[in-house]
Formats: sequence, C-alpha cells, structure tokens
Amino acid sequence: METIALLTSGGDSSGMNAAIRSVVHTGLDAGMRVIGFIQGYQGLIENRFMEMDAGSVDGIIQRGGTILRSARSSEFKSDWGQKTSLENLSKDSVDGLVVIGGDGSLHGAQVLHDLGIPVAGIPASIDNDIYGTDMAIGVDTALNNIVHAVDMLRDTASSHDRAFILEVMGRSSGYLAYTSGLACGAEAVIIPEIPYDLEAIGTRLLEAKKRGRTNSIVIVAEGAASAYAVELKLKSFAGFETRITVLGHLQRGGDPTVFDRLLGRRLGAAAVRRLKNGERGFMVGLINNEIVSTSFRDVFANKKVLSEKNLAMARQLSGANAHNPEKES
Ligand code: ADP
Ligand code: F6P
Repeated sequence: METIALLTSGGDSSGMNAAIRSVVHTGLDAGMRVIGFIQGYQGLIENRFMEMDAGSVDGIIQRGGTILRSARSSEFKSDWGQKTSLENLSKDSVDGLVVIGGDGSLHGAQVLHDLGIPVAGIPASIDNDIYGTDMAIGVDTALNNIVHAVDMLRDTASSHDRAFILEVMGRSSGYLAYTSGLACGAEAVIIPEIPYDLEAIGTRLLEAKKRGRTNSIVIVAEGAASAYAVELKLKSFAGFETRITVLGHLQRGGDPTVFDRLLGRRLGAAAVRRLKNGERGFMVGLINNEIVSTSFRDVFANKKVLSEKNLAMARQLSGANAHNPEKES
C-alpha cells in the first residue's frame, strides 16, 4: 500500500482532528503517501484533496471540528457520484481509504468497499448510534458540553424556582439525553427509544416542588419531542414556571476531551495498520476498552441499543413508570 487517503464526512465531532493526525502519522511512519479529501465525499467527487505531511497535522489534536472540513453530499448517493469517486481514487493512485464519520458516512464507505476499494471506517458522531463501538469519537465531548450547560442552568433555575426543558441532539438515538441526564441528575429524560408520559412527569415534578425542590431539569432528545411541545404540556400544571433551552450545535463543538483525543489516536492508528495488514470493509471500534474490527456488514446488520438496565432506568425518567428513579439506580 503506497498511498492512502482519508476524509471526514457527515456531522463533525470533536476528536476527528485527533483521528486525522493519527491516520497521517501512522501512514507516514509506514512509508506511505497520505492525502486528505476536503469536505468528505463531495471533495472526493470533485477531486479536491491536500497532501498530508507531518506539518499538516501540527497543533490540531486539541481542536474541535475537522481541519479536512465536512459535508453531506447527496451527489455521492448517485451512481454518477460513486463512479466519479472511483475514477478519482484511481487517478490519484489511492490504494486504501479511511472514512471518519457517522452512520451515514460509514454506509458510504461500505458502498466504496462493495465497489472494490480497500476501506476502513472510524466511527465519529455525537449520536453514539453506531453498532460495533461502545463510544464513537465526539460523544464524550458532547456529553461534557451538555453537563456543563445543565450545571449553569441549575444555578439560574434554582434562583427562580423554575423547571428548565433542555433539548439536545439525537435524531434517532437518546444516548446523549439519557447519559447526560444521569450525569447531572436530571429529574426527567425523554428519548426516542421508549414511550414517555408528560402527565406523569409533570405530576412528579410538581410533587417534588411541593416538598421543597427549587428547580427541575428535563432533558429531551430532539428525536423524541421538541422542547416547545414538552413545555406546553408542563406549563399547564399550575404553579409551575418553565423555560426552554435548545442547546443545538454548541454541544457538537469545542475542544475534545482527553477521552476523545485518545480514542481518535487509537482508532486512527488501528485503521491504518489494519488496512495495511490486509483487512478490508471494516470499522474499528472500542469494545470493553479493546480496539475491535467489525465488518461493515455486521455494523449495519445490527442496531446499537441501550442495555436492558439502562432502558429500565430510562423508563423511570420518562414517566413511563411513575416512581422515584433514584431508587432504581
Ligand atoms: P453522518 O455520517 O454524520 O451520519 P449523514 O447521514 O448525513 O451523516 O451521511 C453523510 C454522507 O454520507 C451523506 O451526505 C452521503 O454523502 C453519505 N451517505 C449516507 N448514507 C449513504 C448511503 N446509504 N449510501 C451512500 N452514501 C451515503
Ligand atoms: O448526526 C449528528 C447530528 O449532530 C445529529 O445529532 C443532529 O440531528 C444532526 O447531526 C444535525 O445536523 P446538522 O449539523 O446538519 O444540522
């Protein structure tokens, strides 16, 4: 393998730069030429790339986002886009490709693998919805961002005796909402995986208020409900003052945590080494703190789900079972 290429695609996540750095260093150390396509599959279709020498990744390990930039490319989903990508990879003498991105981007990687390109995938998406890894790159940073925001909201919420409804990302996964909810002691969490009962949540919060609680935090995953719809219902409980915060893209940016930097490093190095050793059509992931390869076929044949224990806890927090969640932990 003489030349490898890499790209970052889909929603950016903090720690992608650490992974880029690691792919480049590992490739260069193995005597390979490394190129980076700009803006994901769109850059691949347009053959926009940069040569990645050691200097190109200096001083990036601590930066959020991705120096290669990212994009969502509808053209790549077409036969024409995929054919053009193959032509460019051949024109640029690319022997192997590393795709860093979320579920959609890894589906794209599988398409290229099926077309005969040696491809390795690295899971990077704050949603943590990818089978084959306990954690994707960027999840830990996003969780820390959310928990930091909730800690700040608690100050103002308790000063004013208010309930705050915080909407976080997660189109089809409640991982961020649920895990941040546990980490900051949210009074209620609403996620797409399980039903929720706003009547029960409202009653529980009101009872806690009567017992002297000065504030409440409700975390809602965007894929389950909007914070506005939740507020509308909770407001209908007399004696309840509510405010909304939609955290949006604030949760996706910022300096990567130590965990995400180390994860990016480990996955980047493993992807290149395993490609060089002949593995094909696979994603590297972290399972029980070991780096494990999973074939794209298996990544997409399985669905990442919350454990039974976590689902039981989430049911308590979503009002589906109306008793005190703390007792279940
Ligand atoms: P993420 O990777 O963060 O999940 P997207 O779902 O938007 O983000 O996917 C990123 C890009 O990956 C898409 O814009 C498209 O170019 C490519 N992609 C997504 N799904 C597929 C698919 N089924 N086949 C081919 N390419 C895909
Ligand atoms: O897939 C990652 C993610 O951050 C989702 O949680 C969110 O719904 C989506 O991307 C937002 O996408 P965009 O940055 O295109 O608005």
